[in-house]
Amino acid sequence: MAKLLYIQASPRGQRSQSNQVAQAFLDAYKQKNPDDIIEKLNVFEADLPSFDGLAVQAKYTIMHGAEHTQEELQAWKEIENVIEQFKSADKYVLSVPMWNFSIPYKLKQYIDIIVQPGYTFSYDSQKGYTGLVTGKPLLVIYARGGQYAEGTKAQAYDLQKRYIEQIFGFMGFGDIKSIIVEPTLAAGAETAQARLKEAVEQAEKSARYF
Ligand SMILES: Cc1cc2nc3c(=O)[nH]c(=O)nc-3n(C[C@H](O)[C@H](O)[C@H](O)COP(=O)(O)O)c2cc1C
Repeated sequence: MAKLLYIQASPRGQRSQSNQVAQAFLDAYKQKNPDDIIEKLNVFEADLPSFDGLAVQAKYTIMHGAEHTQEELQAWKEIENVIEQFKSADKYVLSVPMWNFSIPYKLKQYIDIIVQPGYTFSYDSQKGYTGLVTGKPLLVIYARGGQYAEGTKAQAYDLQKRYIEQIFGFMGFGDIKSIIVEPTLAAGAETAQARLKEAVEQAEKSARYF
């Protein structure tokens, strides 16, 4: 019995294209793997701890190899709880809208919480950086209002997919699959509908082998 963590990063509920594609994936996945646990984390709804003040200080304390103060420990516990939930999964699905060519700020907050030395990556002066979350598949569903196809000029503006692949790769993910739904706005409603349908079909197919 595996645990799949679904991280949802659009606040648009049923209207969200990335959520709809993810839901199609999860429905098909559940049918194929009825005993697996699917845990959902919506980063806009979750009560994520702020990553400021004490939490940042606590991170530096770790990086300097020192011991946490009582106050830092308390703040760090909240960070650890989020990391623990993240690391407890065997498989991951992330649905993410493009916001200003990048990712929504709440997802960035989540990433700032989970990317921590000693938890999701390690550093060694000889070996450099090593990701600690390994051997687990990740499917990322990207939605964009415009189009950022490979080989086009627009691709350079895509800091969404590039960043997600870089930061999850940094944490050790080596098996990152993607489904892109685009353009959800720029070419009108009919095109958006057709692209959504294609992405849903792709999602249902990928669920068979995930
Ligand atoms: C704050 C905000 C910023 C956005 N910035 C971009 C952008 O830079 N490029 C783009 O192509 N679309 C942009 N969009 C459009 C969304 O990417 C598009 O509506 C997408 O379908 C959203 O994903 P969702 O439907 O899953 O919520 C933006 C939307 C919002 C709300």
